[in-house]
Amino acid sequence: MFNFNLLLSLLVVVISSSNNVNAVDINTTSGVVRGQTIHIQTKLLDAKIDQWLGIPYAEPPVGDLRFTYPVPYKPSKDVIDATKAKDSCMQTLSDVDRRLYGNLTLSEDCLFINIWRQTPPSLPPTTTHVDSYDSLKPVMFWIFGGGFRGGSIFAKVYNGSALAAQGVVVVSVNYRLGQFGFMYGGSDEAPGNLGLYDQLLGLQWVRDNIHRFGGDKNQVTIFGQSAGSWSVMLHILSPLSKGLFRRAIMESGSLMLNKDRDVLSKAEALKSAHEMAVQLNCSADDDKWLKCLRGVSAQELVKQNGLVILPVFDSPFLPLRAQLAFEKNLYNSDIDLLAGITANEGHLLKQIFLKQNSTVTVESFKQAVQQLDSIYHNMDVNKLIEFYLKNVNQSDSREIKNRFGELAGDLALKCSTYLFAKQLAKQRQPTKQNVYFYELTYGSDYFGRLSDCNPILDGVCHGEDIPFVFGLPYLYPDGYSQVDINFTQWTLKWWTDFAKTGKLDSNWAQMVSSDNVIKVKDWNPRNQSKIIQHVFDDTCDGIWKSYYL
Ligand SMILES: *[C@@H]1O[C@H](CO)[C@@H](O)[C@H](O)[C@H]1NC(C)=O
Ligand SMILES: *[C@@H]1O[C@H](CO)[C@@H](O)[C@H](O)[C@H]1NC(C)=O
Ligand SMILES: *[C@@H]1O[C@H](CO)[C@@H](O)[C@H](O)[C@H]1NC(C)=O
Ligand SMILES: *[C@@H]1O[C@H](CO)[C@@H](O)[C@H](O)[C@H]1NC(C)=O
Ligand SMILES: *[C@@H]1O[C@H](CO)[C@@H](O)[C@H](O)[C@H]1NC(C)=O
Ligand SMILES: *[C@@H]1O[C@H](CO)[C@@H](O)[C@H](O)[C@H]1NC(C)=O
Ligand SMILES: *[C@@H]1O[C@H](CO)[C@@H](O)[C@H](O)[C@H]1NC(C)=O
Repeated sequence: MFNFNLLLSLLVVVISSSNNVNAVDINTTSGVVRGQTIHIQTKLLDAKIDQWLGIPYAEPPVGDLRFTYPVPYKPSKDVIDATKAKDSCMQTLSDVDRRLYGNLTLSEDCLFINIWRQTPPSLPPTTTHVDSYDSLKPVMFWIFGGGFRGGSIFAKVYNGSALAAQGVVVVSVNYRLGQFGFMYGGSDEAPGNLGLYDQLLGLQWVRDNIHRFGGDKNQVTIFGQSAGSWSVMLHILSPLSKGLFRRAIMESGSLMLNKDRDVLSKAEALKSAHEMAVQLNCSADDDKWLKCLRGVSAQELVKQNGLVILPVFDSPFLPLRAQLAFEKNLYNSDIDLLAGITANEGHLLKQIFLKQNSTVTVESFKQAVQQLDSIYHNMDVNKLIEFYLKNVNQSDSREIKNRFGELAGDLALKCSTYLFAKQLAKQRQPTKQNVYFYELTYGSDYFGRLSDCNPILDGVCHGEDIPFVFGLPYLYPDGYSQVDINFTQWTLKWWTDFAKTGKLDSNWAQMVSSDNVIKVKDWNPRNQSKIIQHVFDDTCDGIWKSYYL
């Protein structure tokens, strides 16, 4: 008897295996990893991409390994299935996160990397011997943001396919977040900065394996946004990351802050870990407190993330804060840098420090600035209040709120990024290295709304670079405008050109030229080649300068 359903399911199997999915096995130091070739066909992109999701690079950091250095993954004898997303690190997801990231599952066992590359044309996709490429491709190593408290390589917005379609190998790394990744316990048993050690182990994994994926370990560009940009900056400072990358892209973030003291000293970090232990009934007086904290459930521990999660300096990973590293010339100076900010970085910060819909008065503005000072220390609070409230209608709540956004954005994101890049540019070897700086002055309406940023009221918010850098209009075209699409095309080219050569085309200019003039690229779709000067004269080079330098 003719079985129509059987025929139909046979057809589906044939179509999906011939058209969409092919297994790609590669032997790595973690074992044989099985990815798949996907044929992406949207109205703007037609590309074959090999995608590996969730390759383990470290042993699960659980039980006795919680709060300690990551341990390289012991090679698996079985083939590792890298065709499906795995768990993301423990965090608390907001509504915006769910919109931007898609569905994520969380667990402490989260130390994975993803890899994307163009499917090699000349070799059958099932080959295991791809190291016979005649030319290895540059590698772009992505570090996501989220304040060291959130984010994931499995987030929809960090899909590396569109970048890979430009001829680079894209890698992204999960790292421990919040207390799991940053609690400082005062000894080698809980040395702090673990999220950064995770990233470092990921970079070492790339050094040891990426040639098998057709990537060139001598041409690695690390790039990140927000806390990912903090991370990039910290790898530039770290002696342990030396030689693991050649270029760096910092999008909106740097931890070069207070020149006079670490924003979070080791003593303060230890005190807050002890306070947390008391909260969790793991009394701090007892020398078994770390053992006790290792017994607390991940669901309980994730609730203990405070407002601000920061690394500690004066540690093997980070011996010196940036100002001192520049002074002593002790940082990874042999790199090219592309760095920048968005026009209105403070959007998120004003939501955090001033309640979302409440009326903001001059009084609450002042209180919020005091609160910032209690975190960042030694701010000239009165002078800053006067500066940012100058010519402001003091009964216009929205205007006051926006001025707070400007102040907080300048402090936490803009000036730290700008002054770090400027210092690196000044100390570079002009014939060998390039340093570029941009200000993003255009945002996608559609992406803005997804991320709770109203383009008219809030401007170009923190994170608005993401859709262009990851080519999201190519991957998920619905909702994006024609301008967004065109702008994405330039951006993908610039970012991957930088990864390939360390240089950008003549639409850009070196941040600091020989006559010491500072040039900032006005990155927007209205004018491909606009360069601006004196952007930060009053702010970063003005009222804030003595705070940083
Ligand atoms: C993978 O490489 C390791 C180390 O070179 C080797 O011992 C192992 O047999 C290889 N596995 C496969 C399946 O080729
Ligand atoms: C800590 O102990 C108190 C008193 O025994 C108890 O009420 C509380 O639930 C405990 N807290 C946690 C996080 O276990
Ligand atoms: C704030 O206002 C917006 C728009 O008016 C509204 O959608 C949102 O629910 C409000 N949020 C709160 C916490 O009241
Ligand atoms: C100041 O803001 C208030 C509230 O929005 C408004 O009613 C008033 O007209 C504004 N004053 C000026 C001088 O713009
Ligand atoms: C990336 O986007 C493409 C096109 O939309 C899709 O086929 C692919 O599954 C996505 N990959 C991930 C990991 O989301
Ligand atoms: C997008 O680019 C195409 C070709 O480069 C151009 O013809 C078109 O006018 C651009 N559209 C917009 C809206 O900028
Ligand atoms: C773009 O900006 C440059 C200045 O940086 C200017 O010379 C040029 O005329 C501008 N082009 C357009 C189309 O506005």
